[in-house]
Amino acid sequence: MSKEQAEREKQLAGEAAVSYIRSGMTVGLGTGSTVYYAIKKLGELVRDGLSIQGIPTSEQTHQLATNEQIPLIGFSQTTDIDITIDGADEINPQLDMIKGGGGALLREKVVASMSKETIIVADSSKLVTHLGKFPLPVEVTPFGWQTVAKKIKTLGVPVALRQQDEQILITDNQMYILDCHFGTIEDPSALESQLNNIPGLVINGLFINMATRVLIGENNIVKELIATDKGTP
Ligand code: 5RP
Repeated sequence: MSKEQAEREKQLAGEAAVSYIRSGMTVGLGTGSTVYYAIKKLGELVRDGLSIQGIPTSEQTHQLATNEQIPLIGFSQTTDIDITIDGADEINPQLDMIKGGGGALLREKVVASMSKETIIVADSSKLVTHLGKFPLPVEVTPFGWQTVAKKIKTLGVPVALRQQDEQILITDNQMYILDCHFGTIEDPSALESQLNNIPGLVINGLFINMATRVLIGENNIVKELIATDKGTP
């Protein structure tokens, strides 16, 4: 797919998600280049009178939403979110996902866990049969990350400490990220639990049973997959 086509599909999906937002809602704001279009559209609607409050999943999204004049609240101000709109790096037919390519996985997972509905927006390249070709991000404490990496390597998986501009990447939560090259993940749910048992591993990028609705830009239309469709690609 060309870059232009991918961008068109992202815009279609991102903007379509906004039609689910109503005045009075608390809205989780995901991170990434697809959610970007949703936030820009939400900004237009807010300036036209839509009354919502957003919870951003990253400093980057905080900045974008602030520029769009979307009122924001923090994690200390609520435990409940009506709808979250977020992106994904891979989505399988069960609507399980790999997320965290943009490094915001910890806040994204907390926000998804607080949400009655989580709408995922993506271009059509994100749909896969099996998760794992995209390296699975895991967020780890800066101390002892080597131990976590060693444990994951014993599964036969190459692990890379994420870098940016030749420096170790530091997340919004002052943690590091390990990108784990699984190749194919046969049982995402089992792996999720296994990873959660490693001390020092703060969060992993497998989002299981979290998406309630997935909107995929495909050519010039938006394809909708809902959680009750589980198992149908
Ligand atoms: C950030 C994420 C993003 O949602 C994911 O990487 C998809 O981003 P994009 O829409 O730019 O492809 O999980 O941590």
